[in-house]
Amino acid sequence: MLDIGGGSGRVGELILEAGAREWVNADIAQEMLDLSAKRLERFGDKVQLVHGDFLTAPLEGTFDVTIALGFFDYIPDAHLFVRRMAELTSGSAVASFPRWNWLKGPVRKVRYEVIDNCPIFNYTERELRFLFGSAGFSRVLIKQGRSGFLVRADS
Ligand SMILES: C[S@@+](CC[C@H](N)C(=O)[O-])C[C@H]1O[C@@H](n2cnc3c(N)ncnc32)[C@H](O)[C@@H]1O
Repeated sequence: MLDIGGGSGRVGELILEAGAREWVNADIAQEMLDLSAKRLERFGDKVQLVHGDFLTAPLEGTFDVTIALGFFDYIPDAHLFVRRMAELTSGSAVASFPRWNWLKGPVRKVRYEVIDNCPIFNYTERELRFLFGSAGFSRVLIKQGRSGFLVRADS
């Protein structure tokens, strides 16, 4: 499994505990890779760390499953990332996306964009269908939650 922006390995830990053969964390932040290495030390060489921007990181072949959780909230050119996901996925891709929510949206906007100067992005179901469809995925399932979407797309 490939975890795009796998961060500290919070999800990787669950995946490896559930029996995954391999978990690859492709993350741009070396500190996050270090944290995940420490957290998942007990899984030995089932853990692979790849440092760099997902669009250019040296990832070869394909993965049964790719995931990107809490990743697309801060990514401006999502279509480039979804297309790269499609290239690397032989089975299914799973990704979370934020959606506008009148309860939390204004607070998130002020916190991230005004205070932290970090733009955040929101999506609609229609945009997600287009994003994954045009990247070449054949089947796209979308589940809507209170503040976001979970997409499963099959190659
Ligand atoms: C909010 S964290 C989510 C971490 C993890 N997926 C989770 O759910 O716990 C986003 C992660 O994406 C990484 N990231 C951001 N931009 C990236 C990029 N262009 N390529 C690879 N990783 C990136 C960050 O370093 C960070 O670890």
